[in-house]
Amino acid sequence: VLDGLRHLEYRGYDSAGLAVLDRAGELQVRREVGKLANLSRLVDEAPVEGQIAIGHTRWATHGPPTQFNAHPHVSGGGLLAVVQNGIVENYHALRERLIGEGYVFTSDTDTEVIAHLVHLYYQNGSHGDLVDATRRALGDLRGPSAVVVVCRDHPDKLVAARLGNAGGVAVGYGEGEMLIASDIPALAPHTRRIAYLDDRQMAVLTANGADYFTLDGEPLVKDASRLEWDADAVDRGEFHHFMQKEIFEQGRSLTDTLRGRLDFVGGQVRLDSLNLSAEQVRTLEKITIVACGTSYFAGLVGKFLVERLARLPVEVDYASEFRYRQPIVNPQQLVLAITQSGETVDTLAALEEARRRGARTAAIVNATGSQAARVCDGIIAMQAGPEIGVASTKAFTASVVDLCLFALYMAQARGAVDETARRELLDALVRLPGQVGELLAEARQGDHYARLAARFGEFSNFLYLGRGIHYPIALEGALKLKEISYIHAEGYPAGEMKHGPIALIDGQTPTLVIAPRDSIYEKMVSQVEQVRARGGAVLAVAHAEDAQMRQLADAILPIPVTHELLTPVLSVIPLQILAYEVALHRGADVDQPRNLAKSVTVE
Ligand code: M6R
Repeated sequence: VLDGLRHLEYRGYDSAGLAVLDRAGELQVRREVGKLANLSRLVDEAPVEGQIAIGHTRWATHGPPTQFNAHPHVSGGGLLAVVQNGIVENYHALRERLIGEGYVFTSDTDTEVIAHLVHLYYQNGSHGDLVDATRRALGDLRGPSAVVVVCRDHPDKLVAARLGNAGGVAVGYGEGEMLIASDIPALAPHTRRIAYLDDRQMAVLTANGADYFTLDGEPLVKDASRLEWDADAVDRGEFHHFMQKEIFEQGRSLTDTLRGRLDFVGGQVRLDSLNLSAEQVRTLEKITIVACGTSYFAGLVGKFLVERLARLPVEVDYASEFRYRQPIVNPQQLVLAITQSGETVDTLAALEEARRRGARTAAIVNATGSQAARVCDGIIAMQAGPEIGVASTKAFTASVVDLCLFALYMAQARGAVDETARRELLDALVRLPGQVGELLAEARQGDHYARLAARFGEFSNFLYLGRGIHYPIALEGALKLKEISYIHAEGYPAGEMKHGPIALIDGQTPTLVIAPRDSIYEKMVSQVEQVRARGGAVLAVAHAEDAQMRQLADAILPIPVTHELLTPVLSVIPLQILAYEVALHRGADVDQPRNLAKSVTVE
């Protein structure tokens, strides 16, 4: 269990705990604040042995990160223990009710409510049937929850259930053992066979298998699917951090993203799993992209690609805004989610809202066993491989390439792009993974980025500027810097500088510009001049052989030349490396930045 939790550390947490049914049949609980190493130490000091156990890393929502608030939570004087992902929205009312029933609370958490509710039903109504008691308890909860329950009276069982979008629940089939986890990296070292719980489903695990039911008690048949990831894909290997590994994997991940999707003879793109025929494409009037964070910025690049190539209007919305603003959606619209994890609560809710309003839904998704992959009418699988670093890197570049394929697919169905233009882009796409590989090899050889980090890493504010298709890259570069190095960085469309942000420029605010030689290059040159005139330092992502920019800027982050529409895939990589090196320079915890979780499964 500790090892499984270690593989889930990237999800972000502030305390951890486990409960083991020991050889004497007693539930032993160990909980500790802070990193898993603290819990490991506790377990070393007071070891415990058993055949069945649950564990959890908690990211505080109700109550501060203390030992008492850490999961598992116990009820019935050690009769049963519960771990939970999610939020009990009606927790106050349930807590009052349980206090009225005589329960004494020992934590501030909403999870403890679930432990006592299961216990209440276990004793009254369910007559010692743990599955029934769990089902009834979940029936009282509002809000998304994924729970696992272990009980002293049932030493051969784990009961797990999923209610709403509370993050994944994956059941792993091992050799003479069964496992359950909220994400694949914990299971990958043990098994290739995995089944997933959907909303309102539960699983009852014994050492030899699992039975599945709906939360209404109907039996379900579930087939395990085969995991395609290698077990070593969830290890850091020779790298210091997962983020570093994932940055340097991008040549490979983009090769995988393109594999099998380009038909050179016919010059066509194939996206079979999108489940959208050319005829259906022709009925579409609009595409709405919904996503969060880095995936949202990929969506902004997607808007450029689809509008330019397919001449179809695209709106890009934060999923967290879309879901609550009564969006105008109709059946002639495709709502396309972009999500690495496929479990981001707002993105799932936005998809639900779109479906409710009659739109067709699709997702560009990395975790193909996730909820997003299961609920959509069609998907484009990213093929980036597991992304563990909290700061998303290879999923961004894979999303942008997938969006380019999607735009070409739309364009070919609508007859919107001529043969020569399509060929040019396809040729550039094929060369792209090699160019990414070269860029990365060069960056890895020298100490250019480490020196930049030493020179600029002590500033407190940065401005990132880009224009057109590079504007989303300015936003993404700024997000990378702020989330892992805690430096305030603002991304802005360069043309808006004069409308306000130029007031920020002085010797203490370096500006990073994305300025490849393209149709708006001259405009970026004049932005750089304006920053320099006000005493600001300039770092420029520019073509390696751009002598003019080399002279103008204080430092160059070089990229190779590609098709203008694919430049974002290259220009974002130096920004990922810069953010990584600055975080190292400042001694920040790159893979587990403060306050952040890899998948945001609660609102
Ligand atoms: O798994 P998703 O793509 O849905 O995640 C969306 C965001 O939470 C994610 O991109 C987040 O912004 C990353 N930490 C950015 O590096």
